[in-house]
Amino acid sequence: MSVLITGIGELTTNVDGLVRDAALVLDGERVAWTGPASAAPAADSRVDVEGRAVLPGWVDSHTHLVFAGDRTAEFAARMAGKPYTAGGIAVTVEATRAASDATLAAGLRRHVAEAVAQGTTCLETKTGYGLTVADELRSARLAASVVDEVTFLGAHLVPAGTSMPDYVDLVCGEMLDAVAPHVRWADVFCETGAFDEAASRTVLSAAAARGLGLRVHGNQLGPGPGVRLAVSMGAASVDHCTYLTQSDVDALAGSDTVATLLPACDLSTRQPLPDARALLDAGATVALASNCNPGSSYTSSMAYCVTTAVLQMRMSVEEAVRAATWGGAQALRRTDVGVLAVGARADVHVLDAPSATHLAYRPGVPLTWAVWRAGERVR
Ligand code: NIG
Repeated sequence: MSVLITGIGELTTNVDGLVRDAALVLDGERVAWTGPASAAPAADSRVDVEGRAVLPGWVDSHTHLVFAGDRTAEFAARMAGKPYTAGGIAVTVEATRAASDATLAAGLRRHVAEAVAQGTTCLETKTGYGLTVADELRSARLAASVVDEVTFLGAHLVPAGTSMPDYVDLVCGEMLDAVAPHVRWADVFCETGAFDEAASRTVLSAAAARGLGLRVHGNQLGPGPGVRLAVSMGAASVDHCTYLTQSDVDALAGSDTVATLLPACDLSTRQPLPDARALLDAGATVALASNCNPGSSYTSSMAYCVTTAVLQMRMSVEEAVRAATWGGAQALRRTDVGVLAVGARADVHVLDAPSATHLAYRPGVPLTWAVWRAGERVR
């Protein structure tokens, strides 16, 4: 079945710039046609969006949605001045291990549904709250049954009672063997209090040898080796990038490693916002993602990230929307999402506004009017 979406006031394709008075035809799971409304072909059905703005669905390339438990008290303590540390992950690990499969699956589905209702149509999520072979495998399996892209993050924290070398051996051996069939990516939290540079390199090398693509959590809580490591190992993305040196910016600009910025996390952990302007002006590819997780960033709202990027990080609306769509796709090395072009996945986000500028002009207002995901109208 094909559907003609017409009456589009402003169409962001990420290919042709902004198109006014546009139309789109979706055919099954794919985009079949884009162009001026006056030239649109017929289709099986028709939706007139009456001048609203249309974008590709958000591509959220960094989330941690396989979890149980709650960290409201930690958040409240932070708002009262306590610093965020990597150690809080252990609280979620304990709750996640104790939860049933059904509880974990229900939470995962609920958070994905929440994201989709706000215009997110492609989602990555990570393991990393299990940290035993059985619990990481369970997380990977559950995630693979629900989201588009799954990342193995066994190297999230060294569990209590284990030494870093012993745990790295486990992650690179039995744990990687178990999860590899269920994941496309491997990630490491390369940060003080988590994994040092040598351990991070060992984990990433083992994952690459298994054919997994690489991602890195780096430079979140202070300057560090994460960006350097990610670029040197050809990682698809280095995420956080809150504390960058000029040489980190230059390294990213000279590579195809995407700098994935997580502004909701920086606000929730009372860190400075990353210098998006320096990255963009140097020519680096920038993505925006929610980092939805119960510890450092409990939001699934990509619109909130875009709003923050425009209002507080000196990104233009066009740059922020592109980073939250095409940039996320680049971070996941995908060409079928984050664009509205013939052949792309029919992931469409209609705003209840005449232009994408309203995402920043009307902060906090829910603007999602309709969503198609792989051609299916889901809102
Ligand atoms: O991306 N930085 C590491 N991991 C998550 C936080 C996890 C947590 O605090 O539970 C993040 O911010």
